[in-house]
Amino acid sequence: MQDKIDSIKQQLLELTATHDSPRSVLRSPLLRSLYAEIPKLPAEQKGQFGQMINQLKLDIEAAVVTREAQLARVELRPIDVTAPMDINSARPEPLAASKGSVHPLMREISILSDIFNRMGYVVEESREIDDQFHMFESLNFPKGHPARDDYDTFMTEERDGDGEPLIAPAHTSTMQYRVLRKYLDNLDKGEPIAAIVPDRVFRNEDLDARHEHTFYQVEGVYVGEGVNVGNLIATLQEFLQEYYGKKLEVRLNPFYFPFTEPSFEFSLSCPFCEKKGCSVCSQEGWIELLGCGMIHPNVLQMAGVDPGKYTGFAFGCGVDRLVMMKYAIEDVRHFHSAKLDFLRQF
Ligand code: DAH
Repeated sequence: MQDKIDSIKQQLLELTATHDSPRSVLRSPLLRSLYAEIPKLPAEQKGQFGQMINQLKLDIEAAVVTREAQLARVELRPIDVTAPMDINSARPEPLAASKGSVHPLMREISILSDIFNRMGYVVEESREIDDQFHMFESLNFPKGHPARDDYDTFMTEERDGDGEPLIAPAHTSTMQYRVLRKYLDNLDKGEPIAAIVPDRVFRNEDLDARHEHTFYQVEGVYVGEGVNVGNLIATLQEFLQEYYGKKLEVRLNPFYFPFTEPSFEFSLSCPFCEKKGCSVCSQEGWIELLGCGMIHPNVLQMAGVDPGKYTGFAFGCGVDRLVMMKYAIEDVRHFHSAKLDFLRQF
């Protein structure tokens, strides 16, 4: 009897030592066959035999624990990145590209940033909460200035250190002061300040096909010696022709912004109908695209730029508008609708 148990024990230990799921050895038919012997034994041998089998089972269990630890160590082995790839192994598949894509607005922002980069502009980010100083004062809208009403946006109930609510910026011009200060040293080195700020802005709007409460603008700031309106027009025309990939005419109408003097509303010939009149340009042939002008001396001065020595231009352009025209998108609300039918077209 002892011999039989020893022989089975030997077999089970060997099996456990190499098994991939060693715990299953405890359910082995060999072990079960030993338990099946007990009822057949004379009563006086049953107790001793039972103890021997229990001991055997404990030995196997110890071997199972050892084997399990060994297997766990194998799994934790560091990955050898120099090992040759086994092309037949089942590797996890990367997520299919069709499961997601870059949002059209983000893609277009990187395209337009590229164009300005090539023209020598650095790219800065705006912010989604700002204070009254950057949004208004630094842009030559003193407290109580009536033009503040044109930039009606969302405000916090909390007050800042000056007792003013914080503000969800209604334009990327909120970054002009910071951009001018950040690159002030350029001027001393004889280089211009040239930056764009493409980012999100907010307005308290009645929503329709052309108005969203949240949209994107790209701000441009260029300051140096002898900068004039001609430079502004040439820069914007060059940018727009590059962006739409075709020759375009541009037109300026006088306008008013507190932070530029003179100020203009900038239009371009409709890229769809070439001035014949179509639904994209409301039969006008021209599309009003952005606001721009020569940076007001007060704005330069507040930021530490000497307006007697330097001049500059700035512009602010709605990115959603630019993209809508490029792809003939009829409703600005599609951008934030999360409609896959819309997004999958890009
Ligand atoms: N911030 C203006 C707006 O949102 C657009 C604008 C006009 C920006 C003239 C400028 C500028 O930088 O010079 O209506």
